[in-house]
Amino acid sequence: MDWGMKNRLSRIIKKDGHTVMLAVDHGYFMGPTTGLEKLDETVKPLLPYADVLMPTRGALRNYIPPETDIPICLRVSGGTSILNETNLLHEGIVCSIEDAIRLNVSAVAFSILVGQPFERDTILGFTQIIDEANRYGIPVLAVTAVGRGLGKDAKYLSLASRMAAELGASMVKTYYCKDFEKVVETCPVPIVIAGGKKIPEKDALEMAYNALQAGAIGVDMGRNIFQSTDPVGMIKAVNAVVHKKYTPKEAYELFKSNKKT
Ligand code: 5RP
Repeated sequence: MDWGMKNRLSRIIKKDGHTVMLAVDHGYFMGPTTGLEKLDETVKPLLPYADVLMPTRGALRNYIPPETDIPICLRVSGGTSILNETNLLHEGIVCSIEDAIRLNVSAVAFSILVGQPFERDTILGFTQIIDEANRYGIPVLAVTAVGRGLGKDAKYLSLASRMAAELGASMVKTYYCKDFEKVVETCPVPIVIAGGKKIPEKDALEMAYNALQAGAIGVDMGRNIFQSTDPVGMIKAVNAVVHKKYTPKEAYELFKSNKKT
């Protein structure tokens, strides 16, 4: 592996082997997502507790000051909106590597939709971006997005995650599920979990903890942080699970105590 690629990966995966990625890329297909209407105001207080920020290029340019000291994992896939039900997440390349380099990113993220009629399109866009990104030492995070009608179970998620790794992903973002260790064991590259739709804070912390216990290296979490009743408290608690080995109970106590401090 080239020095540049290793250097970028070391900015994403911290010395303890773990990472807290803050996903704020939702606008590329969901528009002004609840909690991100004023993305700059939401993100600013969360940055001290995030290791990596995952935005779109438009969000980065418009909402994040260039002097911000945080590695960027740039969303480079897209092409459909939540209004397009039949083609939901039928994604292609929406940002060139040239622009990603201009934005000084540490990684790029691309969704594949394994099992959908249009899976081939997403996979070919994915491998194209891998070739282009890797040429310049930029790692690619595969997002194993789950389309309608496909289960978020270990059988499906290990198929999609392993495919992503075999096709050249440097890291995989997938969903937590029962028997998650099977997904981790059969995937040769590091895995982070997505948060998914907003669930109670206690449950989200337990999910993050269980994922770490099963071998995930961290989280790439969005809605369960920025849609929390206390986003700063929540990211502090998630960070404590990922980097300080807090149990879900300890982390939830930290979350609850944050507002009082
Ligand atoms: C879509 C995505 C999202 O844009 C986002 O990154 C997901 O984060 P979360 O589920 O934690 O809100 O990856 O596939």
